[in-house]
Amino acid sequence: MIHSYWAYLVLAVLILAVINTITGVTSKREFKDKDLRLSLFTLIFVHIQLLIGLGVYFSSNAYKVLKTLGIKNIDAQTRLLAVEHPFVMILAVVLITMGWSKHKKKESDTAKFKTIAIFYGLALVLVLSRIPWSNWI
Ligand code: HEM
Repeated sequence: MIHSYWAYLVLAVLILAVINTITGVTSKREFKDKDLRLSLFTLIFVHIQLLIGLGVYFSSNAYKVLKTLGIKNIDAQTRLLAVEHPFVMILAVVLITMGWSKHKKKESDTAKFKTIAIFYGLALVLVLSRIPWSNWI
């Protein structure tokens, strides 16, 4: 339940952070405190979702089915929940973490926006591609 509700927050802040940084690049504006905060909140929210996800994973039905039948004998929906979703989401969290730490080393404001826009943007695409939409909405 928490993983399901927290996902709305994660998706909302991630989309906002990506839009905010893209407009930051295109308008060449200053990288202010509010930009820093939005990107940081996204990082924190996503890490919390990762921890909740790990907690959910080992007690999930999909994991039990995977353990019992093996990866070759599970259907597409079980594979999505037990393999693709966790794997791709962890990749997305890694990208967000990389984007956050790389932006700090950038000198110019546009470079900061650009770094976050690229890494968070790629992560957003990955997240959208592997959300179990039919279970969720
Ligand atoms: C960080 C980004 C993540 C997002 C945005 C996300 C989002 C979601 C959403 C929307 C669902 C559907 C919830 C529902 O059925 O109502 C879901 C299910 C699930 N997620 Fe994640 N998730 C993330 C990361 C993870 C990670 C890292 C893991 C495991 C290591 C994980 C494990 C699971 C499992 C096992 C389910 C299925 C639960 C069940 O119905 O049995 N998630 N996730």
